[in-house]
Amino acid sequence: MIQAPSMQPTGWFQVAWSADVPAGAVKPLRYFGNDMVIFRGMDGHVSVLDAHCQHLGANLARGGFVVEDGIQCPFHGWVWSGEGRNVRIPYEPRPNRARRVRPWRVTELNGCIFIWHDTQGREPLWQLPDWKHLLNADVVTQDYRPLGDDERELFSQVKVHPQIIAENAVDPHHFRFVHATPISPVVLSETIDEHVWHAKVGFGRRWANGVDRAGDNRNTIEIYWSGIGYAINGECTADGVRVIAINATPVGDGTCDIFASYWISGSDNYAERLKQAKAALPDDINIWEYQKYMDKPALTPSEADGFYKLRRWARGFYPPEPVAVSG
Ligand code: FES
Ligand SMILES: [Fe+2]
Repeated sequence: MIQAPSMQPTGWFQVAWSADVPAGAVKPLRYFGNDMVIFRGMDGHVSVLDAHCQHLGANLARGGFVVEDGIQCPFHGWVWSGEGRNVRIPYEPRPNRARRVRPWRVTELNGCIFIWHDTQGREPLWQLPDWKHLLNADVVTQDYRPLGDDERELFSQVKVHPQIIAENAVDPHHFRFVHATPISPVVLSETIDEHVWHAKVGFGRRWANGVDRAGDNRNTIEIYWSGIGYAINGECTADGVRVIAINATPVGDGTCDIFASYWISGSDNYAERLKQAKAALPDDINIWEYQKYMDKPALTPSEADGFYKLRRWARGFYPPEPVAVSG
């Protein structure tokens, strides 16, 4: 039987870019099969709640608006705070303290907005790191523009699982065929813990012997996964440095929205280098859209180790199997 991984993984998942939710904005979201509303108060704070008002079920994202103390329902004007508490009923002396709209934990980082998802309702098991304090010195010491319209690309409802995207990073031989690199890259270093997968991968003859040299990042990609929803790649190429985030979030219908963000160093030849950075992902998506999940793939020795390690790690993010009840 094919055991496709759960589409309800635990972790942080991107649901928007900051620029799409300015102060006072209210927008609908749909992820993990839930209708939600995202809004930003006039104080700049972003909140995500389940979409439906607990009074009579109106969708807060469809006509609701930001007021001083939260979001006001378009149907009878009840006001819900960013934590989902009812703070005002315009025609009653007191709010309803018993009912709550489910709030989602939100982190906003480097122009991206994430929610915490866990089917068991646990509080966040880890925090998202800021890549500007995380990646190697050659990456973090560059100047980058804030994410503008050209640096953000949303691929909606792609038929892919986040794990498949993670597997792409440990799949050395697809680089030759999908991305036209002359030889397959090699993994130079790798650290894996419960929530993080962190690797340095070398490209070209410079790294052909597979031996890492600390401080030498030329022709490397530093890959950092924080759960299976958040992936950052710090790439040191001959043409400059770039950081690419490829964050996939399950919609709830077997597809994912893929949020791709691009930070390109400096300003020389910027437009061309941005175009090059954006060229790779559509080629991957073209494969993923039509790929079938293989529970037992036919892997060669040079690829098996990475795949199995990645799959073992990914399993830690899936909800426990339902326990069969007998009798
Ligand atoms: S349904 Fe929201 S106030 Fe009535
Ligand atoms: Fe790829």
